[in-house]
Amino acid sequence: MDNIHITFDCDSHARIFIQVLLSHAFRPDPSSALVEEGARVSLSMSSARAVACAVVTGSNTGIGLEIARGLSRTLPTVVTSRSLEKGKAAVEILKKSEPELDLHLIQLDIDDGTSVEAFCKTVDEKFPGGVSILVNNAAIAFKARDPTPFEGQTEPTLRTNVYSTLRFTEAILPRMKRASSGRRIVFLASQAGTHALSGCSSDLQKRWTDPSLGIDGITSLLQEFQDGVSSGQYREKGWPSSNYGVSKLAVIAAARAYSKRLAEDGIIVASVCPGYCKTNMSSHRGNRDAAKGAETPIWLATASGNSITSGGFYHDQQQLM
Ligand SMILES: NC(=O)c1ccc[n+]([C@@H]2O[C@H](COP(=O)([O-])OP(=O)(O)OC[C@H]3O[C@@H](n4cnc5c(N)ncnc54)[C@H](OP(=O)(O)O)[C@@H]3O)[C@@H](O)[C@H]2O)c1
Repeated sequence: MDNIHITFDCDSHARIFIQVLLSHAFRPDPSSALVEEGARVSLSMSSARAVACAVVTGSNTGIGLEIARGLSRTLPTVVTSRSLEKGKAAVEILKKSEPELDLHLIQLDIDDGTSVEAFCKTVDEKFPGGVSILVNNAAIAFKARDPTPFEGQTEPTLRTNVYSTLRFTEAILPRMKRASSGRRIVFLASQAGTHALSGCSSDLQKRWTDPSLGIDGITSLLQEFQDGVSSGQYREKGWPSSNYGVSKLAVIAAARAYSKRLAEDGIIVASVCPGYCKTNMSSHRGNRDAAKGAETPIWLATASGNSITSGGFYHDQQQLM
């Protein structure tokens, strides 16, 4: 580790300098020495202590908010919200019950390139140590009663749940490579994805589970599904009748593809089904609350690397695929 030794002639300059460092999440090593000698103040600190953060997409509500709550007990965690108002209200509620939570709110709509760019810029300014944990939680699901026809739901579902999620992951990756340790990517998937796989023809099943399937291959498979939906022939071509299921099948496959690609960088990647949770997405039906649904995503993000198979799909701390 490089050591920086800075001497100030003026006490107030030293104090301002320290405040600026702390506000940029550049935290002194616990062994740092702050020595006052009259008007002379010396600060000794390790330059390798720039703090990295965790980022949870779609964390103003539901499972994402509970994941952010859990992670922020031990590391700075960025709560992201499409609406700053909703995000502020969510953070306030969490802070009221646990004031020590290390939460930072930044606006993010993963479907909006300008929002993603602004988000990355703010993260770079606030967290020069990069991003150590990325939880891709944001997703949509059309309600059963939604009048939009099946073919009208395909593009928006794949856009947010897969394409925007993958683009956001690519935007964050250089910031993860900057973080020094404990690097994880967790994708919120669903057992709707494994059900979709069972509903695929045997040829499609082989292609989805091919260990060499990469992100390009996943994109091609999704394009085939979309083409089948547009032509009205997706069933004949071996696809199941679930846009959400196919989107989550792609997320499970993407976690596996990233685990291979990022193995050399020491980044562990996993996907997870949180179970049927009472949230906005499920119209508050379900057999567990969002906090229970957040347990395995938090475990995947923080447990020792030895207990997790990179590329695996998990539910309740058990590997399903
Ligand atoms: N709930 C379940 O039973 C269940 C089961 C299996 C898997 N899952 C998965 O678990 C994850 C969380 O689900 P949940 O039940 O907590 O859902 P939720 O309550 O509907 O929350 C979804 C979050 O994603 C955000 N979001 C949606 N589109 C976005 C976009 N384009 N950019 C940024 N954020 C966006 C939402 O923001 P707004 O508040 O602005 O809409 C919200 O914060 C999802 O990936 C879901 O598929 C849930």
